[in-house]
Amino acid sequence: MSAPVANVVPAFDVESVRRDFPILDQQINGHPLVYLDNAATTQKPECVIEAISNYYRRDNANVHRGVHTLSDRATHAFEQARQTVANFLASRRVEQVIWTSGTTAAINLVAHSWGRSTLQPGDRVLVSWLEHHSNIVPWQLVAAATGAEVVPIPVTDAGEIDLQALAGLLDDRVKMVAVNHVSNALGTVNPVAEIIRLAKTVDALVLVDGAQSVAHWPVDVEAMGCDFFVMSGHKLFGPTGVGVLWGRESLLDAMPPYMGGGEMIERVAFPTTTFNVPPFKFEAGTPNIAGAIGLAAAIDYLGSLDRQAVMEHEAALLARTLELAEEVEGLRRVGTPAHSAGIFSFLLEGTHPSDVGMLLDQQGIAVRTGHHCAQPLMERLGIPGTVRASYSIYNTQEDVSRLFEGIHKAKRLFT
Ligand code: ALA
Repeated sequence: MSAPVANVVPAFDVESVRRDFPILDQQINGHPLVYLDNAATTQKPECVIEAISNYYRRDNANVHRGVHTLSDRATHAFEQARQTVANFLASRRVEQVIWTSGTTAAINLVAHSWGRSTLQPGDRVLVSWLEHHSNIVPWQLVAAATGAEVVPIPVTDAGEIDLQALAGLLDDRVKMVAVNHVSNALGTVNPVAEIIRLAKTVDALVLVDGAQSVAHWPVDVEAMGCDFFVMSGHKLFGPTGVGVLWGRESLLDAMPPYMGGGEMIERVAFPTTTFNVPPFKFEAGTPNIAGAIGLAAAIDYLGSLDRQAVMEHEAALLARTLELAEEVEGLRRVGTPAHSAGIFSFLLEGTHPSDVGMLLDQQGIAVRTGHHCAQPLMERLGIPGTVRASYSIYNTQEDVSRLFEGIHKAKRLFT
């Protein structure tokens, strides 16, 4: 009998992952590309590009409408993609997954449908100072139309939601608490379980913006206990223009439609029209079929990786970043949350973030600079913006070293 083979768990093979992303293999301004703008959008693996291309090459047709074979195939793939998302989020039922064009559209859907039909003058929607504009402005629009009020939840100087302040704001005027899972500007991982627990003491609903979390670790919306969860495809290795609203069934059933058109109706008549059931009630018009199929391929791709190893890999990148940052005189990390995910925001004394960003680009390093669509947060921190490096599964320790070579060069040139 041969000796038993040891059960060896392979280490995370970042080079193999990189080979799945064709865009990474190129020179920018004479240097190998270092892509550190993953919080803005992630790159797409070959299998996602193929899934979209194959759909258009072989199966393209409109969904839920035709009796012909192509329409059947497209409908099957589209609804299968919904099931993939439902499994990905650990949704109890597939009908709780609504296709949108992205996180912004999903928040607008909730704000306009639930908000306009529910909020009364004097009611309050709490959003944190950490929010992206897309989780502030839709609520302001609905507040203006209903007489409700949008109240910011304070954050600490470290860039964390102040839970004591949140508890102090909670009373029976609060109908909704809308927070991100991970801050796109600072990388703060928000304690959503505790925020939900607090919100439920006054029976407020909770919307969690998962745009920046779902690529980093598995999310279970039922276990989390939120009422709405929103995410985008393109920050999860899928295409742009597709995203998801997940909602509690009883809420989705009660909410009025947001947009009117085909697909969302049961029967159209004069003078009264009746509506379809969720999720179709919220999906007027021809959806982004290729986008949904591409997103499902991205989720399958992520599912083929060891997600624990992915988390450890990304944590190691951030840990090395913070070590190297300590050694740079005049570098200030913006936001020092105890828990952060994949994002390093900083300022370099005596330099403007956009100058640093441009200099890094000259060296082939892609970062984002500016207010990151979080102007209230920048105002709270008393800064105009930051330089932001954001990591993903295909970044390497070499990428971190290249970032710091670039930072040292910026220091030499600008200070
Ligand atoms: N919300 C995206 C970002 O933070 C676009 O860059």
